Amino acid sequence: MSGQQDRKFIVQAGGQLTGSFRVPGDKSISHRSIMLGSLAEGVTEISGFLEGEDALATLAAFRAMGVKIDGPTDGKVTVHGVGMHGLKAPENDVYVGNSGTSIRLLSGLLAGQSFDVTMSGDKSLSGRPMRRVTDPLALMGANIDSADGKPPLTIHGGHKLKAIEYDLPMASAQVKSCLLLAGMYAEGTTSVTEPAPTRDHTERMLQGMGYPVVVHGNRISIQGGGKLTATSIDVPGDISSATFFMVGAAIAPGSDITLQHVGINPTRTGVINILKQMGADISLSNEAVTGGEPVADIRVRYAPLSGIEIPQDQVPLAIDEFPAIFIAAACAEGRTVLTGAEELRVKESDRIQVMADGLQALGIDAQPTSDGMIIEGGIIGSGEVDGHGDHRIAMSFAMAALQAGGAIQINDCANVATSFPNFVELATHCGLQIDAFDV
Ligand code: S3P
Repeated sequence: MSGQQDRKFIVQAGGQLTGSFRVPGDKSISHRSIMLGSLAEGVTEISGFLEGEDALATLAAFRAMGVKIDGPTDGKVTVHGVGMHGLKAPENDVYVGNSGTSIRLLSGLLAGQSFDVTMSGDKSLSGRPMRRVTDPLALMGANIDSADGKPPLTIHGGHKLKAIEYDLPMASAQVKSCLLLAGMYAEGTTSVTEPAPTRDHTERMLQGMGYPVVVHGNRISIQGGGKLTATSIDVPGDISSATFFMVGAAIAPGSDITLQHVGINPTRTGVINILKQMGADISLSNEAVTGGEPVADIRVRYAPLSGIEIPQDQVPLAIDEFPAIFIAAACAEGRTVLTGAEELRVKESDRIQVMADGLQALGIDAQPTSDGMIIEGGIIGSGEVDGHGDHRIAMSFAMAALQAGGAIQINDCANVATSFPNFVELATHCGLQIDAFDV
């Protein structure tokens, strides 16, 4: 875990990606399966659960609140639900590590409980904005202390919540989900209006567990006082983790990979649309629906890429994929322009600045702007970049080595374990020449 032991990657230049395999389970869906399974009546059986630090932090939080949870063993988890009012006060503060999804979704859920909880996180999380959840929760009647709008957060329970109508100031599935979870405990009907569609896993899972959610265009409503019924949840592969391999195969001549059983929820497939527009050869097969979520096998074969102006409507649908998309842009012919993505500045790192710095260190003309980046495709050089404790930065630069003129060293990589614990093994298996060192 970051802060305790650090890691660095050294990735040799060249190679290609081949093979057919699964990436770990979807992080967003794994979090939600524990949260909603815990509040359900009955036993929820989860398969494909992401055994990464972020989802495990959520699992530990619910165990600390008295929920019996078996596993994870080979991605299988059994949650013995305690019902909407069955959680107990944890004995200690809850530590959620690097996980923005844990702290923001739990804030809403815990605002409706009868007890107090303090949640804290690692250095990266401790610098991230929380007013986006604490302000609307305060409007609902919640009482939350923060460190000047940042973690740690202390949620004081025992306050009656009332429903609100809320226009989200930014496209954020975490804020939307936080308010929907609080809305389950509020008197009346809580409605949230999004400025643009964001991932809808919370809505889908609530409905799958029998809790009605009404969706009218960009407005999502939930009535308080309902209940959840346990079910089985098959967590698909995480398209955000698949993205590193999609980009790697798209930039490295001779590559041909198939990523099996990946979630292709339309609120998550911006990366496919963007890479295809750049000229990538991507095809889907074995399309199916599992537990209310669409899945498919994604095949990517090398094809030359061209720079594009990334359509703004794709930005929320690819929000976690931009570090990797920037690598594709650096390898493309011509200029790529991203705008409307200021949210990237408040992720696990400032992903605009950190990626621009890293690309420049590798000899690429990458100019950060307030809400995006302008990248001129070119030749990636050898060099050393900083992962800034951000899993997606580290994995993106690892893939850049496939098209680099020499080895790339990436520092501060330990947080890759938050979302992709077996990244080095899988990447090695399909052709990346990567070594990890504990430092
Ligand atoms: C997530 C929503 C997104 C995403 C994060 C996971 C979720 O965050 O970046 O990795 O599970 O709801 P925002 O809501 O801040 O955009």
